[in-house]
Amino acid sequence: MESKRVFYAGVVSNQEIAPHIMKIVLSVGEEAAKARPGQFINIYPKSERLILPRPISICDADTAARTLTLIYDIVGAGTEELSRAVEGDRIRITSPLGNGFRIPDPDSRVILTGGGIGIAPMYFAARYMAETHHKVTAVLGFRKDTFMTKEFRELGCRVLVTTDKPAEDAFLGNVVDCMTINAINADCYMACGPRPMLEAVSKYVVTADEKADIQVSMEERMGCGYGACVCCVTDVKAERADGTESTERLKVCKDGPVFDGRKVVW
Ligand SMILES: Cc1cc2nc3c(=O)[nH]c(=O)nc-3n(C[C@H](O)[C@H](O)[C@H](O)COP(=O)(O)OP(=O)(O)OC[C@H]3O[C@@H](n4cnc5c(N)ncnc54)[C@H](O)[C@@H]3O)c2cc1C
Ligand code: FES
Repeated sequence: MESKRVFYAGVVSNQEIAPHIMKIVLSVGEEAAKARPGQFINIYPKSERLILPRPISICDADTAARTLTLIYDIVGAGTEELSRAVEGDRIRITSPLGNGFRIPDPDSRVILTGGGIGIAPMYFAARYMAETHHKVTAVLGFRKDTFMTKEFRELGCRVLVTTDKPAEDAFLGNVVDCMTINAINADCYMACGPRPMLEAVSKYVVTADEKADIQVSMEERMGCGYGACVCCVTDVKAERADGTESTERLKVCKDGPVFDGRKVVW
């Protein structure tokens, strides 16, 4: 894998698309062409008080415009600082990091499951596969306010929306309830969202189909963001040389963020 580059990106736009949810477009030059669905970048806050970088998934990459688009939730000091960036500002970021999703063959049926802000990287996967004519269903789960559902529909995906509170044109419940009721099945599942959702989706797939591929993008709390502090580890099943099962501790920032949902120790 190519080594990480830290550089200044220009802010093209930064706007609210739903309550507390922002969309920022960054001018990143040649790095846009290197981005793959499921990868993330680290953003270094300007404030010296906020030492650690903030990992944010790539929601889209435009090779012609040389931009990356990110969608982020304002949850703390770092994302609040980012929400104040305006056109023309420069922010320090890394090049795209992590392993990203493995894109299946174009004749595969694919289910993309996103929960809350985890919907952002699923859009990049959907847009990538729209170009290769995959059959994609997106199951998008929100608390109440929805965002980006129109953009998924515009790509030609079948879109199922779920909400925790009653909302128009949405299934009331969680993404797994929605998948169960709609008898959703596919050759490949990709998911990003809160850990309990990733566990539930993985268990749904394991029960539904022995062979289906399940790739989950984990959002563990991070420190350094480049493999040095070991604060983002997750346990993953492994096999010893004699064929017996063991576990290994992998770093989400370096070995992930995408893992095989059948192998994660939930
Ligand atoms: C691989 C990956 C991709 C992500 N993609 C997105 C995305 O596309 N959009 C989005 O809104 N959020 C995303 N997150 C979560 C995002 O990194 C945190 O919400 C953000 O770092 C919070 O920073 P803060 O200063 O506002 O909050 P604070 O709570 O003040 O952060 C304090 C510290 O904890 C770390 N931290 C807090 N929450 C998380 C978290 N969930 N994951 C990792 N580190 C955390 C921060 O980086 C910071 O170092 C992603 C996380 C990971 C690991
Ligand atoms: S965040 Fe430091 S090792 Fe992953």
